[in-house]
Amino acid sequence: MKLIIAIIQPHRLEDVKEELYRSNVNLLTVSEVLGHGRQKGVTEVYRGAKETGNLLRKVRLEIAVNDDYLEAAVKAIVKGAKTGETGDGKIFVLDLKECVRIRTEERGNIAIG
Ligand SMILES: Nc1ncnc2c1ncn2[C@@H]1O[C@H](COP(=O)(O)OP(=O)(O)OP(=O)(O)O)[C@@H](O)[C@H]1O
Ligand SMILES: [Mg+2]
Repeated sequence: MKLIIAIIQPHRLEDVKEELYRSNVNLLTVSEVLGHGRQKGVTEVYRGAKETGNLLRKVRLEIAVNDDYLEAAVKAIVKGAKTGETGDGKIFVLDLKECVRIRTEERGNIAIG
């Protein structure tokens, strides 16, 4: 099991969701966050996304997947989020030790999706 954490441009969220659903990835958590990449927020300021100081509005996705779905999920995020401009975002993939569906107490692969 893997946990995908992706930071994307807010205006790409709908496209990313669409691509994920197309890849049969249907469960996700979305948060609004602030951040900056290696340009330290400077080059993106003029696109109107600036929030506080040099921190820019971004969207964070958390998606837990079984290993079989990892590659498709990563590709879907890239496809939906990429514009080719700086600030398009980043995807982090972490090993996931456990998942528990609270309602049924199912664990592991079966609990994820
Ligand atoms: N190494 C990192 N650690 C934590 N958060 C990061 C990291 N890299 C990027 N982020 C987050 O992802 C967002 C988008 O990053 P961004 O796409 O600007 O990365 P970049 O490395 O600067 O690449 P680019 O040169 O394409 O802009 C940042 O605003 C920040 O929230
Ligand atoms: Mg950047």
